[in-house]
Amino acid sequence: HKKMNAFPKSFLWGSASAAYQVEGAWDEDQKGVSVWDEFVNIPGKTFKGTTGEVAVDHYHRYKEDVALMAEQGLKAYRFSIAWTRIIPDGDGEINEAGLKFYENLIDELLAHHIEPVVTLYHWDLPKALQDKYKGWESRQIVADFTRYAEVLFDRFRGKVKFWVTLNEQNVFISHGYLQGSHPPDVQDPKRMYQANHYANLANAAAIKKFREMEMDGLIGPSFAYSPTYAIDSNPVNVLAADDHEELQANFWMDVYVYGRYPKVIWKWLEDQGIAPEVEADDFVLLREGKPDFMGVNYYQTSTVSANPLNGVGMGKPNTTGEKGSSEANGVPGIFKDEQNPFVERTNWDWEIDPTGMRIALRRITSRYDLPVLITENGLGEYDTLEEDGAIHDAYRIDYLKQHVEAIQEAITDGVEVLGYCTWSYTDLLSWLNGYQKRYGFVYVDRDELDEKELKRYKKDSYYWYQKVIESNGENL
Ligand code: BG6
Repeated sequence: HKKMNAFPKSFLWGSASAAYQVEGAWDEDQKGVSVWDEFVNIPGKTFKGTTGEVAVDHYHRYKEDVALMAEQGLKAYRFSIAWTRIIPDGDGEINEAGLKFYENLIDELLAHHIEPVVTLYHWDLPKALQDKYKGWESRQIVADFTRYAEVLFDRFRGKVKFWVTLNEQNVFISHGYLQGSHPPDVQDPKRMYQANHYANLANAAAIKKFREMEMDGLIGPSFAYSPTYAIDSNPVNVLAADDHEELQANFWMDVYVYGRYPKVIWKWLEDQGIAPEVEADDFVLLREGKPDFMGVNYYQTSTVSANPLNGVGMGKPNTTGEKGSSEANGVPGIFKDEQNPFVERTNWDWEIDPTGMRIALRRITSRYDLPVLITENGLGEYDTLEEDGAIHDAYRIDYLKQHVEAIQEAITDGVEVLGYCTWSYTDLLSWLNGYQKRYGFVYVDRDELDEKELKRYKKDSYYWYQKVIESNGENL
């Protein structure tokens, strides 16, 4: 049994959320309308038509939520800022009331010695920009996003030390422009790769701005990384796994770190006629936007096999690791998604694979040599509120414990991990799955159709994490 390295003293034991999933107050204090405010109201898009209009009312209850974090001993809280609160129409006037809300939240966190980790963009694009120039499909988004970022850097300089640029670019781009399950509900690979290129530029431009402003702190993107396994050692399947890793992981992270697209994938995009249009200067900007850390949202791994060329059309690359919609899961000629027979699954059919997290951390270290901030990891499950107000979520404790162990293994292997933000702090809106798929340490009493009183209850996992933090990861 090998001796394990201890977690560093500065390790950020954190937890996370996103504006649309917790805040509510969707039209208060001059907030503009986002593409999600609109999308959830299209019939059939979300579970039981659930929206985040009230969500878990964090906008009005942030002090109560921060008090719970403080009592638990949380070291870091990752949350996102809604662009529509800061610049309601995306590119016009700055809304002081929006800045004030986040300033109050940040001050409240700092007063309790909780490090704010701020995500600039967690999917809630101002609808005005979607209407005006199709949002991510226009080069204009690069300048508008950078201006928005600059407003936040300027206001929160000295207070916020950890910044996340884009949350899961790979997810919002592929769901928005290929699967069509997120706004703007497009299914077109050519448009997807173009929007993705502008998102890459926006990410780099915001980081470049951060450097120019000589901000004190660290900045990086959050990537939804599902490392690839081959279904077996058949060389054609191993090749498919290589291709999958290139297309679903290196294709995004190489751009962040090296400012270029992987050659094999670029060639494939050109052959398919779906490569984005680029300008020569783009690559100068991309190289200038190198992040300080790689933010990783880790939930599961991907297992693939070879896929014969005479498949079913351009398929739907599965970048989120969502399994289940079996039709055309994969890309003909490249890979086919498989079920890994060696891992367990949640009630939402997501794999439980803590070793995959260790693999993810190691692959990032080998390929990019950057520190890693785990910006999300957690278990979405049904929870039961008992009559005495307890929630016995032993399954969540078990899940988190295995993942914390995997992080410690990775640290022992030589990976630099800055912190671990579980998903999520309180229960929240699970975008398309309503409120029944719960992730929090803190249970929020509401369901899809009834907001009830939105009362907060501590789950067993809340107390478990409290001990983990207190012992700096020694007492699991
Ligand atoms: C990540 C997102 O993709 O996964 C979160 O950044 C999201 O916003 C989380 O909630 C879990 O996904 P889901 O679909 O179970 O809510």
